[in-house]
Amino acid sequence: MTLVLGIESSCDETAAALVTDKREILAEVVASQEVEHSPYGGVVPEIAARAHAERLAPLVERVLKDSGKTLADCNAIAATAGPGLIGGVMVGLVTAKALAMASDTPLMAINHLEGHALSPRLADEALDFPYALLLVSGGHCQILRVDGVGRYKRLATTIDDALGEAFDKTAKILGLGYPGGPAVERLAREGDPQAVPLPRPLVNSKEPHFSFAGLKSAVLRAYEAGEHTEADIAASFQQAALDCIIDRTRRALSAMEPVSALVVAGGVAANQVIRTGLEGLAGEFGLPFTAPPLPLCTDNAAMIAWAGLERVNAGYAPDPLDLKARPRWPLDPEAEPARGAGVKA
Ligand code: KG4
Ligand code: ZN
Repeated sequence: MTLVLGIESSCDETAAALVTDKREILAEVVASQEVEHSPYGGVVPEIAARAHAERLAPLVERVLKDSGKTLADCNAIAATAGPGLIGGVMVGLVTAKALAMASDTPLMAINHLEGHALSPRLADEALDFPYALLLVSGGHCQILRVDGVGRYKRLATTIDDALGEAFDKTAKILGLGYPGGPAVERLAREGDPQAVPLPRPLVNSKEPHFSFAGLKSAVLRAYEAGEHTEADIAASFQQAALDCIIDRTRRALSAMEPVSALVVAGGVAANQVIRTGLEGLAGEFGLPFTAPPLPLCTDNAAMIAWAGLERVNAGYAPDPLDLKARPRWPLDPEAEPARGAGVKA
């Protein structure tokens, strides 16, 4: 049995998990920093880094204890080494390096986006490469072709805001607090998705990318006009966002070489309306659709441990202890920068 300890600290969740190559999560904990950041309506990097530093070591101790394992039982220690808020990433990476050095265990530095990209395979044994991946989180909105572990081709990205960011900003405008995605989804259930006319940026555009900044501004204008209920605005926003995603993903699937499945991952993949819409789209192309279970969508350490396992099994060498944390770290370094390039890492 191969056993990997995973550590995640790139944003506002401090997490540790132990995962086996049999796809078992032996133990996992995710400590959210919601309480710390909610007064500010978003993640404050300095507060996040301090909270990770206080919590991480006890969390690692807990997952080892809960599973009755020791570091000596681990074949590797996998930690997010970027992209993300650099203070938090450094806390996780330095902790992993110290544990690796003390226990003489190999270190696997993981790209957080690769954690999301491979997470569907942790839950779904049948999911084979290559697959089309819509990666939608707080910092990213990309369509990738996943050809194998470490082999990603980016077909589309956002030229401005990420999708999760658009959900969070909409929540802020509507006074729903932070984090916004789940709150917008809840309120949207009570609203009419057709009530508020909102733009669908780049829909039917020849270029492959996403854009959400104009949608967010339109939400603000609709709110300030005071003619619609908050539930109608939330529902109409979610519908507009879904229409954009479906249009852009349809375009990418039409342009892509054949794939085995359509997959969605990242925090926004927790959204049921988006999951259902994508499932319908996969059906149009005769493809199976896979989305990880909800706890694997938002940031967690099981996906980081799993990415570590996949890298070990694919023959990637361990990383050196002087490896640097990377605030920016694209999955496909060869992808052309998108127009506008206001792209978040
Ligand atoms: O992957 P993630 O946990 O962190 C990043 O790597 O960014 O994604 C967090 C993002 C946030 O923007 C959050 O509002 C969004 O995912 N999110 C959702 C839902 N749950 C989380 N967005 C829409 N609907 C949801 N149910
Ligand atoms: Zn994430």
